[in-house]
Amino acid sequence: MTMVAPIKAVRGMNDVLPGETPLWERFEDAARAVFAQYGYRNLRVPIVESTPLFVRAIGAVTDVVEHEMYTFEDKLNGESLTLRPEATAGIVRACIEHPEFLYDGGPQRIWTAGPMFRHERPQKGRYRQFHQVDCEALGFAGPDVDAEQIVMLARLWKALGVADGIRLTINSIGDPAERRAHRVQLIAHFERHASLLDDDAKRRLHTNPLRILDSKNPAMQEMLHAAPRLVDLLGAESRAHFDGLQQLLADNGLAFEIDARLVRGLDYYNRTVFEWVTDRLGAQGTVCGGGRYDGLFEQLGGKPTPACGFAIGIERMVLLLENAATAGDGAPVAYIVHVGPAAAAPAFRAGEALRDRGHVVIVHAGGGSFKSQMKKADASGARFALIIGEAEAAAGTVAVKPLRATGEQVAVASADVAARLEALAS
Ligand code: HAM
Repeated sequence: MTMVAPIKAVRGMNDVLPGETPLWERFEDAARAVFAQYGYRNLRVPIVESTPLFVRAIGAVTDVVEHEMYTFEDKLNGESLTLRPEATAGIVRACIEHPEFLYDGGPQRIWTAGPMFRHERPQKGRYRQFHQVDCEALGFAGPDVDAEQIVMLARLWKALGVADGIRLTINSIGDPAERRAHRVQLIAHFERHASLLDDDAKRRLHTNPLRILDSKNPAMQEMLHAAPRLVDLLGAESRAHFDGLQQLLADNGLAFEIDARLVRGLDYYNRTVFEWVTDRLGAQGTVCGGGRYDGLFEQLGGKPTPACGFAIGIERMVLLLENAATAGDGAPVAYIVHVGPAAAAPAFRAGEALRDRGHVVIVHAGGGSFKSQMKKADASGARFALIIGEAEAAAGTVAVKPLRATGEQVAVASADVAARLEALAS
């Protein structure tokens, strides 16, 4: 029989196997539950939209529209169609198309989730088909809704046990008139330093000078740092909006950093922009990005409708959850190592006693030497090994050995193990 070459998945488009889906489901369930607490309802839009929707919404001179869209011609009628690179444009289109929902129904909080497509160079955390969970608050003008979304995200990180690893950056990119004034000053600044501009920057100088600020080119950093900052040119209303947001975040105990160079890669934003970034994923550390887009409805032919939203990259969240698991979160508090026939029953009982108090515990099964069991204990991510040998079994004790921190192994009476672990773990 001749072998047929198997067909592979498209580069950058991944299968998610059952071994990985529990973390996806954990994230999706947590997101749904937290969003529901804030009154967000689910809306679903098509994966394919007409190309001009994205060009108009995201902006013709953006990486996404210039380089990354999967655009094709509908063979039947020649219409140009695009696999959605993001969800906001489609959601706004749907709201304009169904006026009874948004305009007659009043402001809405909605969420959606699903695959997005961008033709980027695949690497860890960056794919050509990736997935987002996306929230949009439509018809709300005040900074309270911006703050509410950010606080809601902080609650989600906490629910997932990843709050420590993600930090918040915010900025205001002002309103169109402020941006025009800033643009004029910015172009003048870049022209004064024309010899420092790389090709990309030169190309963008008159089309999208704001994006030059995003450049990572080391040779340009000093000049970029000295560039006029939009946040210094905000008018009274934008200033009040930005101050209002910061006040609400501070009132709710949220730490944030203001990054005057944060501009985001899509053109529809105004005033508030924000990103949540982690250091734990290497180069692709932005797990969530969003902001306000008060002009987008009009730009797409709808009535003026202030709005604010964000999207979370699910693959990046899953990578973060995997990291958290090996760093101890969600991992067992204890792995019980037992050697010799007399130790098996006390080990089993110790496991049950700890589970009675809600702990996650692995009792070693399948025999093996002390050394090989200790290796498994370490690999499990457990914080403590509980060791029961012949001597401990005879004495009714357990040896408690910290695995993640320095500390002596101590002998504890079996009945006191749970209390001792809880004291050590807190
Ligand atoms: P975005 O910043 O383009 O915003 O994408 C949001 C998130 O999607 C990113 O922070 C990242 O986690 C994830 N992401 C983006 N591209 C990729 C990729 N190639 N591979 C893996 N993950 C990726 C938006 O899409 C806006 N629509 C967000 C928004 C909603 N703004 C207002 N409403």
